[in-house]
Amino acid sequence: MNLVTEAERRRTFAIISHPDAGKTTLTEKLLLYGGALHMAGAIKARKAARHAVSDWMEMEREKGISITSSVLQFDYQGRRMNLLDTPGHADFSEDTYRTLAAVDSAVMLVDNAKGVEPRTLRLFEVCRMRKLPVLTFVNKMDRPGLDPLDLLDSVSKSLNIRTVPFNWPIGMGRDFVGVVQLKTGTVTVYERGAPGGTEIAEERILHVEDDALAEALGASRHEELLEEIELLREAGDDWSIEDFLAGEVTPFFFGSAMTNFGVRPILDAVSELAPGPKPRVTSAGQRTPTDPDFSGFIFKIQANMNPRHRDRIAFMRVVSGQFERGMDVELARTGRTLRLAKPHTFMADERSIVEYAAPGDIVGLYDPGELRLGDTLSTGDTVRFQGIPRFAPEHFARIRLKDPTRRKHLQTGLQQLSQEGTIQLFIREGLGPADPYLGAVGLLQFEVLKERLLNEYRVKAELVPSEFTTARWVGGKPEGLAWLKGRSDFVLVADRDERPVVLSESPWKLDYALSQAPGLELYDVSPLDH
Ligand code: G4P
Repeated sequence: MNLVTEAERRRTFAIISHPDAGKTTLTEKLLLYGGALHMAGAIKARKAARHAVSDWMEMEREKGISITSSVLQFDYQGRRMNLLDTPGHADFSEDTYRTLAAVDSAVMLVDNAKGVEPRTLRLFEVCRMRKLPVLTFVNKMDRPGLDPLDLLDSVSKSLNIRTVPFNWPIGMGRDFVGVVQLKTGTVTVYERGAPGGTEIAEERILHVEDDALAEALGASRHEELLEEIELLREAGDDWSIEDFLAGEVTPFFFGSAMTNFGVRPILDAVSELAPGPKPRVTSAGQRTPTDPDFSGFIFKIQANMNPRHRDRIAFMRVVSGQFERGMDVELARTGRTLRLAKPHTFMADERSIVEYAAPGDIVGLYDPGELRLGDTLSTGDTVRFQGIPRFAPEHFARIRLKDPTRRKHLQTGLQQLSQEGTIQLFIREGLGPADPYLGAVGLLQFEVLKERLLNEYRVKAELVPSEFTTARWVGGKPEGLAWLKGRSDFVLVADRDERPVVLSESPWKLDYALSQAPGLELYDVSPLDH
């Protein structure tokens, strides 16, 4: 296969949203319009299974479903789309942050009645950090919501990004009949189909000036629409593809994932506007997708949760070159050579052995425990991609071991599970590695840790909540760190890369440190390194 054409046709993206904005529904509809129809049921079933912790555990055990749905691959308009799924539960947001390191663009889903919600904001910040292009889809237009102009304005203000509508809704709630493409004036009027929009909606294509549209809407509504469009054309922010690619402007699309109205335009936009794979920074310059040397990095590790086999699946994003089954690659961290003999790909709801993958694709590798999050695999010169950032935990705990003879197993378990990103470990000077502070972004991570320690390492552990609520990586001038070290009221720990982290019971205390310590800087995201 031709590397250049294969790389160019990849579109690797994720959907970011607050729970209930309609991510599952939109994902299904993208697959419906992308021709991978049979996925619809699987995703719904998974959603139904993720309400309680126990259900979540059950679901993870049924590894088939959760693994195959992690990456949805389908072809659309000659492009190969890789839609990376992100966990629905807010407590697993760290997983989502990591997934965003593996995509080239994101679709931000906004509920038309709610605007930007807290989780959307946090995820958007992660996109901004990576300068990721973001397309916005305003969902649930079939329900009454905020005025579209106010929505544009509020998204722009709360996210500090320019917003440019690409299409505009005709009506809202029960009166929502279609969308106008603002650049061309083309109107798509939809027919409401079966409940839930299980089939592609019938479309009628008109022009905004057409008499037929005036007739369908009534003269006064049509007049209002024309005026609105006029206003948008005059008052809107400027569009530039360069600014979009730099993450400084977001195109807006309106629709209703449930009824399928406006689904095709957002899919078209991902296919046409969103970028293909980009070069990525390594320890030795950039790797460009079309570089003949293969490279990729691990952004997600998923355990099988089978106590008898400690095998897990490591998800690798291909960055450059072509991946072929059975190839030998170097694991940069250890210098060892690995043969990728049983790699998997994900096409719709089937997991199959992958023979070939191009930049932008995701390959699932069986991992006997050798790989870690952020690892680089490559051929040619040894390179290392920037690590995957870790996010400051918001919950902390200590471990109490029920049976002290299991201490060694506990230590192994904690090490391995932290390498998979289940939990973050912080070690305090003077305390051994078996007595770390545990940090989690979401409380459920602790439940998962307990369950996995028990199932996979036969360690019964009790978690004791800690008084800390905030962690920050320490940076800036060495004097700042020295200041913290000299104080008995600040707790300094080291993360697994031995970077200093300060723990605190209140953000206020950290503000105090920042105001007093010379040259101190504190980060809520771990610094990137090689
Ligand atoms: P999530 O993955 O982002 O959490 O959201 P999900 O798709 O599950 O959607 C959350 C709820 O919003 C669901 O209703 C879903 O049907 C509804 N929804 C999604 N898109 C639209 C839309 O375009 N219009 C309207 N009116 N509703 C939409 P539910 O009652 O929680 O579940 P269900 O019984 O309908 O599946």
